Amino acid sequence: MSNFRPTTLIIAAVVLIALILLAIGVSSYQKTSYEVDPSQISYVGSQSCKECHEEIFREWGASVHALAERPIDEEREAPAFLPPKEIQVVDSTSKAFEKDGEFLIHTLGKDGKKKDFEPARILGDNPLRQFLVPQDRGYVQVTSLAFDPQAEEWFDVFGDENRQPHEWGFWANKGMTWNTMCAECHNTRVNKNYDIQKDVYHTDVEEMGVGCEACHGPGEAHIEWHRSFHILGDDPVKRLEGKELIDSCGRCHARRTALTEDFYPGDLFLDHYVPELPNDTEVYYPDGQVHDEDYVYSSFRMSRMYHEGVTCLDCHLPHTGKTKFEGNALCLQCHADKINPTEHSHHKVDEPGGLCVNCHMPTTVYMQRQPRRDHGFTIPDPKLTIEAEVPRMGVGSD
Ligand code: HEC
Ligand code: HEC
Ligand code: HEC
Ligand code: HEC
Ligand code: HEC
Ligand code: HEC
Ligand code: HEC
Repeated sequence: MSNFRPTTLIIAAVVLIALILLAIGVSSYQKTSYEVDPSQISYVGSQSCKECHEEIFREWGASVHALAERPIDEEREAPAFLPPKEIQVVDSTSKAFEKDGEFLIHTLGKDGKKKDFEPARILGDNPLRQFLVPQDRGYVQVTSLAFDPQAEEWFDVFGDENRQPHEWGFWANKGMTWNTMCAECHNTRVNKNYDIQKDVYHTDVEEMGVGCEACHGPGEAHIEWHRSFHILGDDPVKRLEGKELIDSCGRCHARRTALTEDFYPGDLFLDHYVPELPNDTEVYYPDGQVHDEDYVYSSFRMSRMYHEGVTCLDCHLPHTGKTKFEGNALCLQCHADKINPTEHSHHKVDEPGGLCVNCHMPTTVYMQRQPRRDHGFTIPDPKLTIEAEVPRMGVGSD
């Protein structure tokens, strides 16, 4: 073997190392790809996406999705407790104040006595925040007392109902238990973990708030793929479009009953949920316009636009939560060829009556403070207003 040269040895070594790396790549790809084995799915948290998607991370961080549930931030929450606030609901007075560095709410408990309760986390941001108070056996209760950061005032989300301790819907009772009633839409991947025998919750969430993986699915496999040599398969990240996209937003933006706890982005809504249908006049008006709080999904599914393939992303930016354009420009992206705004509406475009959304997406105020727009894109009809008491179009109709 006199012609055996050192370079051959080096080449052989390089090939060997490459094969070993390839083998590692194959095994880790198979291990973490959630398309292979759903029980092996791994969530890594939005923070791990930051290094490669900085701008998106920043946009998302300022959005209400990131704030949907969060720990108490002293500075942000201070105006609710300092100076102390008195909250009057019908004949009951509660207080919000600070004591020894802790924010406290003094209000009626389920034993019918007033006590100090210490909130640990917050739901929502603007125009209203509700407070989460941990109790024993893993129960977390959500206050019906809420704070409006713009008006800097407290109010009750149930208005003047003044719910009492014996009622199911009283804040400290099961109707207002975060674990079953709120957690899954305000967080990323919730495991309710209710022990029915002991009546104890061990609820955990992959990430507090609506994180990247609430919409994109578990991210570990995607990150590993980008850190490997990209030799195997395609990027396993979930790409959302069409009806899968709408269903992935709709699962939280819908009034519905859950059949499973197992929705992953890309799944279909109807495989996991029963939506609220317009067969009930308390919920919808006879023309399909939303009456009670139904969020967005069912209304949109009934619209002609849904059936023509329009999706949430034709109007919304997914990371900021803002609309793509302000005013009529949003609608004229597609309607400019047939609709001349002034001729169509008989109003100047800078008047409230000249805005497409004021006639086709009328507003209703929910939770006492939040005006929301109807996503059924219905056609206003004066005859229905008279005969079926469908409210007239326009800002602030209730
Ligand atoms: C090691 C770097 C890296 C990390 C960490 C990372 N990504 Fe990516 N990601 C990329 C690259 C590179 C692309 C392709 C180029 C692009 O779209 O920016 C990409 C693309 C994407 C896409 C678009 C895929 C497509 O083709 O439409 C999504 C969605 C995505 N990443 C989500 C995430 C999420 C969620 C996380 C955190 C769980 C994350 N990424 C973490 C590198 C990374
Ligand atoms: C895991 C549940 C969840 C998913 C999935 C989800 N959202 Fe949301 N979304 C929320 C919650 C909760 C809020 C309200 C948060 C708050 O006010 O603090 C919200 C708020 C919004 C807002 C209001 C933004 C604002 O600034 O007022 C828009 C618009 C929105 N979501 C659109 C979408 C779209 C589009 C998708 C799909 C691409 C989507 N959401 C997916 C839970 C979700
Ligand atoms: C089916 C999903 C879902 C459930 C369950 C849910 N929420 Fe929400 N919540 C949302 C969405 C979506 C929004 C944003 C609504 C919008 O802007 O149209 C929101 C918004 C909010 C806001 C912010 C104010 C606002 O109007 O934007 C608060 C506060 C809130 N929810 C509290 C609660 C409480 C308390 C519970 C439990 C009793 C709860 N939510 C249960 C989906 C849900
Ligand atoms: C409310 C749902 C939602 C959240 C939260 C969300 N995204 Fe997205 N994102 C989308 C949708 C929908 C698209 C467009 C369709 C697609 O590419 O799957 C998208 C697109 C992307 C893309 C590719 C297109 C682009 O704009 O470059 C990347 C990368 C991405 N997201 C990363 C992230 C990261 C990182 C986070 C968290 C910091 C995040 N997303 C949070 C819904 C969301
Ligand atoms: C991505 C394109 C797109 C955008 C953006 C869009 N539309 Fe449409 N819209 C359509 C299509 C397609 C139809 C089906 C009928 C047609 O072609 O005119 C439709 C139909 C409608 C209808 C008729 C509904 C019916 O029951 O007959 C109304 C009303 C409407 N759109 C209002 C709006 C408003 C208001 C906006 C802005 C907030 C808007 N559209 C934005 C594509 C779009
Ligand atoms: C003052 C109220 C009003 C405003 C503002 C308004 N519409 Fe309409 N729109 C109507 C009424 C009423 C009808 C049904 C009568 C008709 O077909 O002309 C209608 C019908 C429609 C239709 C379905 C009929 C068709 O021609 O295809 C579309 C699409 C539509 N509007 C889009 C828009 C868009 C886009 C804007 C904003 C540029 C807008 N509308 C502004 C009242 C309004
Ligand atoms: C044709 C355009 C269009 C489509 C499609 C659309 N939206 Fe909207 N959406 C709007 C407009 C306009 C507003 C009002 C924005 C404002 O007032 O700043 C809005 C507001 C919202 C809000 C804030 C609260 C409210 O109801 O006013 C949420 C949440 C929301 N949309 C979710 C969604 C989701 C989820 C989808 C898909 C299922 C979707 N939207 C589809 C145009 C659209």
